[in-house]
Amino acid sequence: MDILVVGGGGREHAIIKKLRANPKTGRIYALPGNGGIAAEAECVDIQAKDIEGIVSFAVAQKIDFAVVAPDDPLVLGAVDRLHEAGIPCFGPNAAAAAIEGSKSFAKNLMRKYGIPTAQFRVFDAYETAAEYLATTDYPLVVKADGLALGKGVLICGNQAAAQAAVQSILVEKRFGSSGDKVVVEEFLRGPEVSVLAFTDGRNIVPMVSSMDHKRALEGDQGLNTGGMGAIAPNPYYTEEIAGRCMREIFQPTVRAMVAEGRPFKGCLYFGLMLTKNGPKVIEYNCRFGDPEAQVVLPLLETDLLDIMLAVEEERLGKIDIRFKPGAACCVIMASAGYPEQYQTGYPISDDSDGSAIVYHAGTSRQGDSIVSAGGRVLGVTATADTLRQAIDGAYAAVGKISFANAYFRRDIGRSALLASHSKER
Ligand code: AMP
Ligand code: GLY
Repeated sequence: MDILVVGGGGREHAIIKKLRANPKTGRIYALPGNGGIAAEAECVDIQAKDIEGIVSFAVAQKIDFAVVAPDDPLVLGAVDRLHEAGIPCFGPNAAAAAIEGSKSFAKNLMRKYGIPTAQFRVFDAYETAAEYLATTDYPLVVKADGLALGKGVLICGNQAAAQAAVQSILVEKRFGSSGDKVVVEEFLRGPEVSVLAFTDGRNIVPMVSSMDHKRALEGDQGLNTGGMGAIAPNPYYTEEIAGRCMREIFQPTVRAMVAEGRPFKGCLYFGLMLTKNGPKVIEYNCRFGDPEAQVVLPLLETDLLDIMLAVEEERLGKIDIRFKPGAACCVIMASAGYPEQYQTGYPISDDSDGSAIVYHAGTSRQGDSIVSAGGRVLGVTATADTLRQAIDGAYAAVGKISFANAYFRRDIGRSALLASHSKER
C-alpha cells in the first residue's frame, strides 16, 4: 500500500514511523517532509497548503491512502479533493474541519448542544465589541476566529488591553481574514489536558491523555509557542474525569457534528481545562496535536495504519485500540529566539544511544549533514515505566544532541510530576 502523508513536522515524523511498522505499507511519500523524515519516506517538495499539487501528485503516483496531518490543508478541503479523486484518506473534510477552522462555529456548536465551555460572545464590528468590553469582568480572552498559528489568543487583564486586542484583530487585521470575527470569552482557571481521539463519525475512542507546555520559557513564562514539550499520560486526568468527559464532551461533540451534517472522521483533539465547575472545552483541533502526537503515538500498541483504515471505512467500533502502560516525555529542542526571530542552518550532531526517539521537526539535509531549519528543530521522546524515568531518558538524550543556537526548556514534565506526587499522598 503506497501512502502519502501531508506535512513536515515532528508530528508527521511520529505518524510516519508508526505507518512504517505495518507490513502492508509500501512507499511513503511526505509532502514536504523534512531532513529526518527523509530517512523513512520520500520527501517531495510540495507544500502542505498546495491542495492542487497534493491531489495531482497523489493521482499521478496512484496513492492508495493519504494522511492529511496539519490544520491548514484540512480546513482548505484537501480531504474533499482527494476523495473526489478516489483516494481514501485519514482526516476530516472541510465541513468537519471547521471545528478548528472557525472558533465561532465551534463555540456556537457547544452552546447549541450544551457542551461545557467558557461563556462567550462573537463580534464582527469594533464598536459593538467595545461597548461590550466596557461592561464585563476581567481578565478575559480575545480570540481571532480563524487559524492563526496558535497566536490568535490574547489574554487581557483590563478593558484597555481587550480593546487593543479587538482593534488589532478586527480593524488592523493582524491575522488577515482569520480576524473577520472575534470571540470574546470568559477566562477559565485550572489544569489543562489534551485528549486526542480517533473517531469515524459515530464511534469515538480517546487516546492516552497528555499535557502540552505551550510557553517558550521555563516556569510557563514567555510567549505562547506551538509547544515546547509534552508528557503522557496527564496525571490530572483521572478515570473519573475521563468518564465525565466521555459523557459530557466527547460523545456529545461527535453526535453534534452528525446532527449538523458534518460528521467528523479522523483525529479530534480536545483541549480541556479542568475547572472547579468540571471539565470545559478550551479548543478543538481537527488533527493530532504537535507535540502531543510525539508522546501519544509512541505509547500506542495497536497498529496505527489499521486504525486509520478503520476510521476511513467507518468500522472503528470493530477494532480494539490499546495503549502501553507507562509514560512518555518529549522535549522540544528549538532554535533560540523561537517563536520570534531565530537563526537556522546549523549542523546537528546526535550522539544519543538510540534509547530515545529523535523526531525531526524543522530540519533539512545539506549534503551528508542535517541542519536546523525551523523554530522547533527536534522532538526528543523517551518512554518508560514511570514519568520520572521518561523525563530522565528524554533529557539524557537531549544532552547528547547539539547544534549551534539550540534552546530547550529544562522543566518539561515537572508540574506533572508534582501533581502525580501530591495524588499519591
Ligand atoms: P488555544 O490556541 O485556543 O489553545 O489557546 C491557547 C492557550 O490560551 C490555551 O492553551 C490556554 O492556556 C489559554 N486559553 C485559551 N482560552 C482560555 C480561556 N477561556 N481561559 C483561560 N485560558 C485560556
Ligand atoms: N500542541 C497544540 C496543538 O497542536 O495545537
